[in-house]
Amino acid sequence: MQQDPERIAKVYDTVAVQYAKEFEGEHEKKPKDREMLEKFSKETKGGRPVWDFGCGPGHTAGYLKTLGVEVSGLDLSEKILEQARTIHPKIHFRKGNILDLEFENDSIGGVVSFYAIVHFTKEQVKQAFREIFRVLQPGGSLLLTYHIGDETIHLDEFLGKKIDIDFMFFTTDFITGCLKKSGFEKIEIIERDPYPGVEYESRRAYVFAKKPVARKPLKRGTT
Ligand SMILES: C[S@@+](CC[C@H](N)C(=O)[O-])C[C@H]1O[C@@H](n2cnc3c(N)ncnc32)[C@H](O)[C@@H]1O
Repeated sequence: MQQDPERIAKVYDTVAVQYAKEFEGEHEKKPKDREMLEKFSKETKGGRPVWDFGCGPGHTAGYLKTLGVEVSGLDLSEKILEQARTIHPKIHFRKGNILDLEFENDSIGGVVSFYAIVHFTKEQVKQAFREIFRVLQPGGSLLLTYHIGDETIHLDEFLGKKIDIDFMFFTTDFITGCLKKSGFEKIEIIERDPYPGVEYESRRAYVFAKKPVARKPLKRGTT
């Protein structure tokens, strides 16, 4: 089912308060998240700006800030952004759509995006990767996570609220193919088992990828 951004925003508006409570400080319980975010913070090496796309209530941006990364957050849901601004008053958050980013080409140093593609169809994942690639600066880094698999889980209830939304899982072959097609290079995908009792019991993946540094055109006469 195509999940239009308005529907997704409505779902996260509905669960914003509960979502913020449930996921506050979640990286404290997930050592691999912290390791991957630390690796990302070193890779971006002070590159600017850095954005958390699909930031939710801002815990990933918040953790990156503790590592010294000047990061801002973007999300579709106004209510979830209200939570993010309350919990992390020193971080800038704004509304936006990953599928149609209001950023110039080559303007962003690093993008982190944790589980923001979970509601996208395969076509929307391709569109999201094209958009992220477009806005990244040459040499810019992406760190993205997803649930591994090929199933779709439909939820009528989430965090005690009535909703109507699909959560999509993706195979690593599919994600790798889409990233390559969008132009990304240096693609590294790290998979892990779930942390029992801490999170939904699915296998997860962390993707690192880079936008290639523009090559200088060869001068006449050089071989
Ligand atoms: C599963 S939550 C993940 C939130 C947070 N990154 C985390 O790890 O908990 C998905 C988030 O992505 C946002 N989102 C979904 N589609 C989006 C889109 N097209 N553009 C921007 N944000 C989007 C939702 O509003 C929601 O906050």
